[in-house]
Amino acid sequence: QHPRPQSWKAAALSHNQQSQANLLLTSLSTWCSIMTVDKECSIETPLQNKLPLFKIKAIIVRRRSMGKNLAFAHVKVIEELASSEIGTEKNESTIQVAFRRQSAAWDSSFDNTFPTKNSQLPYGAIIILHLFSNHTGSHQQSESNPTTPKYEVNKWSILMDPRIDAVDYAKTPQINNAVDTQHEGISCSKYFKARMDEYMKYNDIPKSNHAKLPKQQPKEFDTINQNQDAASHGDKKHKALRAKMFASFLIDLFGREFFQGVDVLDIAGGKGQLSFELSLQSQSLCTIIDPLIRGKGNTQQYNSRDVKRIQKANGIVPKHIAKRFVLSNECLDLVGKSKFIVGLHPDECTEDILDAALETNTPAAIIPCCVFASLFPGRKLENGEAVCSYDQFIDYLMKKDDRIKKYSLSFEGKNQVLVFDPSSNNSG
Ligand SMILES: C[S@@+](CC[C@H](N)C(=O)[O-])C[C@H]1O[C@@H](n2cnc3c(N)ncnc32)[C@H](O)[C@@H]1O
Repeated sequence: QHPRPQSWKAAALSHNQQSQANLLLTSLSTWCSIMTVDKECSIETPLQNKLPLFKIKAIIVRRRSMGKNLAFAHVKVIEELASSEIGTEKNESTIQVAFRRQSAAWDSSFDNTFPTKNSQLPYGAIIILHLFSNHTGSHQQSESNPTTPKYEVNKWSILMDPRIDAVDYAKTPQINNAVDTQHEGISCSKYFKARMDEYMKYNDIPKSNHAKLPKQQPKEFDTINQNQDAASHGDKKHKALRAKMFASFLIDLFGREFFQGVDVLDIAGGKGQLSFELSLQSQSLCTIIDPLIRGKGNTQQYNSRDVKRIQKANGIVPKHIAKRFVLSNECLDLVGKSKFIVGLHPDECTEDILDAALETNTPAAIIPCCVFASLFPGRKLENGEAVCSYDQFIDYLMKKDDRIKKYSLSFEGKNQVLVFDPSSNNSG
């Protein structure tokens, strides 16, 4: 077995203390980040065409991230902090800005702050923006093309994130089918209501599907976005199938009897599709641990069709624990009491699931999805390279123990399964 870092537990505990807003930042929208930079996205804007930098304090009113290299926002200017002669025009309270990672305007030493997802541009957030103006002499680009933002971001930071208040508002006490008594659940509906209220403070028209800027970019950006989503979580059609396929795969691998009537912990189980499948296909007793409560009240509400299917098959509806999974004694106890642990696209707790399985010698299977390289900058491969891509992440996870085996499932999106079976020999 490969030695595990001495500080893994301490690191996990400090991870535990990260704000829940941080979790939502990574969890509540697309859930994915692709670590490769698409060269096609490059829009090179020569710096000499830009007028000097100025600095403003502003509120994000609308936003649209186009992935790794491009994002737009409407911001309401609160204050000009340091201005060139041009600066924001008088009476101009809302301006459009563009974030272009590969333009000369963008300060690449701030790449880890580049808004690659909409959720990284939270509306209502108070931000500091260092901007270049896209004025070119007396002629303004925006006059010839009104859809081109007048300002380009050089670097930026968030001063006040309203999602922290929204999380506080959405925290719910545990009731009914919750197992633990700590107040860690976050009601999705309350959270989204708080965020919608924030959005409506600055926008007259209610947000429909998209609290985003209208699409105005060249077609290739859309394609790149779609590819990124499909590449990470699979498209909608395949999402419905993957839980079924994962459950069938596990039952084929370990045998139906292995799962029958035993406790399975589905970590970061989301809406519970995998648990429902395991329960249907092998009568497992599943418990989902996931901080987000789907439903109107404080209790997880499952899809009624899934519940009917389970009832018809005399299966057991999964329990839900509204809690973040971390390497705490409490979570390790839950793992220890389970016969098997699973994680299907478990976002940022992927590594913790594997560490917990190794720590407690519990069989486990995970299908990693996002790498979250900026959240875990300390992850390194044996050759010292930072773990940035999906393949590197898989390698990094497999190096934890020789008994971890890799399989591929035939659904679209991230489909590599890592299985830890403590009873297997590690000869290959
Ligand atoms: C991409 S979704 C996958 C959900 C589900 N497994 C599926 O495949 O449909 C990621 C889930 O991870 C959950 N999550 C993120 N961090 C978590 C943590 N530390 N503990 C438990 N759940 C977490 C999120 O709330 C979200 O429901």
